[in-house]
Amino acid sequence: MKSPGLFITLEGIDGSGKSTHQRLLVNHLRALGYRVCATREPGGTAMGEQIRRLFFLPSRGQRSRLSSKRHPLTELALMYAARAQHLDEVIRPALSRGEVVVSDRFNDASRAYQGYGRKLGIRTVESLDRIICGRTQPDLTILLDVDPRKAFTRVRRRAARGNRRIGIFEAQGLNFQSLVRAGYLAIARRDPRRVKVVHAGGPAAQVQAKIRRLVDRLLPRHKGR
Ligand code: TMP
Repeated sequence: MKSPGLFITLEGIDGSGKSTHQRLLVNHLRALGYRVCATREPGGTAMGEQIRRLFFLPSRGQRSRLSSKRHPLTELALMYAARAQHLDEVIRPALSRGEVVVSDRFNDASRAYQGYGRKLGIRTVESLDRIICGRTQPDLTILLDVDPRKAFTRVRRRAARGNRRIGIFEAQGLNFQSLVRAGYLAIARRDPRRVKVVHAGGPAAQVQAKIRRLVDRLLPRHKGR
């Protein structure tokens, strides 16, 4: 039987504005009276947050050989290890309590980054997905689509402000981010009922209004309020 909650994921290339829009969407849902579980991947659990650290460059002065020598399958396995824990500790319990789960990234990120970006192929990702996620799949995925050059400028500005470490995929540069974007758009074409593409190059208020329209359409069906 399907759980009573609602599962929404936000996806997009690095610098597409997911975190800002997650915060705004969560505020909106809470103001409407919904119980919301806001979470993220990789992360969302103590173990997941440890795995997350492997995907950021070491801060200045620290040396690490971790980021350069990893095999794409190692990356994929790490992402799904974090996801298995996240599903067990956070997502499935929240859904069964009837909450609205809003996750900043989930399994489409593995399809786009490891499947397309790292060229492992969608089939490899999906074989792991069947085992680990099984029937726990997002009800709605908002894909924030933005020109990789624009996103890259945001990422660089963020790094220059120094308030966030640089992700290993951000450091891969524009070509990699363009591959990931093409991957995301292919995922959306394959599953248009679930994955909604929102152009995220404009002002945040406009983008958020579009997101809310898509989410609000699902809410009347959701009984977990
Ligand atoms: P972010 O969540 O702050 O955007 O950073 C996490 C990075 O990890 C981002 O570059 C995307 C990447 N990632 C994957 O490559 N595969 C995945 O399955 C997930 C969840 C994230």
